[in-house]
Amino acid sequence: MMVDILKGESAIITGSAQGIGRAIALRFAEEGANVLIMDLDEEKAKETAKDCESKNPNIKTVVIAGRETGDITKFENCEKAANEAKKVFGGVTILVNNAGLTLDKPAHTLSEAWWNIVMDVVLTGSFNMIKAVAPIMQEQKYGCIWNVSSVAGIGGNAAQINYSSAKSGLVGLTKAAARELAPDNISVNVVGFGAVWTRLIQPHEEIEILGQKMADMKAVRGQDPQQVMKMYKAGIPMCKHRDTPLLPDDVADFFVAVCSRNAHYLTGQWMIYSGGMML
Ligand SMILES: NC(=O)c1ccc[n+]([C@@H]2O[C@H](COP(=O)([O-])OP(=O)(O)OC[C@H]3O[C@@H](n4cnc5c(N)ncnc54)[C@H](O)[C@@H]3O)[C@@H](O)[C@H]2O)c1
Repeated sequence: MMVDILKGESAIITGSAQGIGRAIALRFAEEGANVLIMDLDEEKAKETAKDCESKNPNIKTVVIAGRETGDITKFENCEKAANEAKKVFGGVTILVNNAGLTLDKPAHTLSEAWWNIVMDVVLTGSFNMIKAVAPIMQEQKYGCIWNVSSVAGIGGNAAQINYSSAKSGLVGLTKAAARELAPDNISVNVVGFGAVWTRLIQPHEEIEILGQKMADMKAVRGQDPQQVMKMYKAGIPMCKHRDTPLLPDDVADFFVAVCSRNAHYLTGQWMIYSGGMML
């Protein structure tokens, strides 16, 4: 249901070509926000932008995407995104640092390259984006920043020492940024999700990101989507009365609520949104 909760806002959402980021972009557009789609995947990013405009012809979209220009690990890309948003939308009021990836191996077999890529995307990428939007938000004297973490960042996951470390690092990053930016009326928070039904946890093979093949989830968690879904559901108390684990659309609803100006006094907080998967 569209009630214009985010009317007049301008949001940058990283990793918004697909999955959770795409769902956030669509819901934000529906609620009246301009959206900048930033991702490595240009084709899917353009599709998301088109779908946002079809949902709400009153909003504007910008796409900063592609293997070179959409990569948040490079500060110049993040700066370009922030400047484009300012030029086209007139400012940036919301940033969702959602882009992320998993490259899973037990620590003793994990390459330095896989360690560095996950650190770069999750931690350095989020830092780059905050650094790029901060001057604009400071000038506006308003901003709302959310970093996307995971239960792995608190509980740790076997074969995810890189991902768990990076997602945990987002907590310190969030708290430091919250302290720095609060005097300019900018809130910064971090949310750790449990299982959200996207390609990241679905049975898949051979997904390539930044030249690296993500872990073969068919080998790790099984071949049959229904079985994998059942496995996740079994570990989530709130799933008892749902057909599926959390879906990207559910996560998007969460962000509409916390990015509305009604929740702006919330800052420096680390929360888990997992249906009880982690308490
Ligand atoms: N799906 C889950 O169960 C789950 C749980 C906890 C946290 N998360 C987090 O939620 C976020 C979104 O995950 P998802 O499940 O939608 O995954 P996804 O793979 O469907 O989408 C992630 C997007 O990020 C983009 N991306 C990756 N590296 C990038 C880079 N360097 N620059 C720009 N874009 C980049 C990818 O191209 C992709 O479009 C991630 O941070 C992930 O760690 C997901």
